[in-house]
Amino acid sequence: MLEDIQEVLFSEDELAARVKELGLQLTHDYAGQEILMIGVLRGAIIFMADLARAIQLPVVFDFMAVSSYGASTTSTGVVRILKDLDEDVEGKHVLIVEDIIDSGLTLNYLLENLKSRNPRSIKICTLLNKPERRKSNVPVDYNGFIIPDHFVVGYGLDYAGKYRNLPFIGIPKKEVCE
Ligand code: IMP
Ligand code: MG
Repeated sequence: MLEDIQEVLFSEDELAARVKELGLQLTHDYAGQEILMIGVLRGAIIFMADLARAIQLPVVFDFMAVSSYGASTTSTGVVRILKDLDEDVEGKHVLIVEDIIDSGLTLNYLLENLKSRNPRSIKICTLLNKPERRKSNVPVDYNGFIIPDHFVVGYGLDYAGKYRNLPFIGIPKKEVCE
């Protein structure tokens, strides 16, 4: 696996330090409240697992899985819900946890969908953000790192289902993604 990586963008230590900071910020911002963390499967699970342990407040987990609707999706932002929530979000403080925001289309759809279920509040926390690629303007409340337009893997992020278990975030070699 390591031989497929061209460059490490964020080391394990850098990720841990940033996740800790985000956890402190969330602990402060949500003081006295319970957070319903909604992880977007599958990429967000590693980040969410670490982030949750950096939050010193009661936290409940739920997950959603979404997929793009074929080729038209890139332009329309229509996504299909593959797995819906188990919990009712009404009256809850919802925090959507994502691995990366690229075009923003997936998250924009998810945000509107969840808003219609009447949460008490709803915010977005993403580990990585590629603002250059944005097509849909999503309000990102918590940002781990802003990155340039590179395809990255590791710490939950995959290429063709692989590399999610790398403990760092890196750029795969070109020949790997062909
Ligand atoms: P978008 O914001 O709707 O374009 O889609 C975001 C989703 O695309 C993320 O949740 C990831 O699953 C995937 N994605 C976007 N950029 C990358 C990347 O650099 N590496 C791995 N997955 C990515
Ligand atoms: Mg994802």
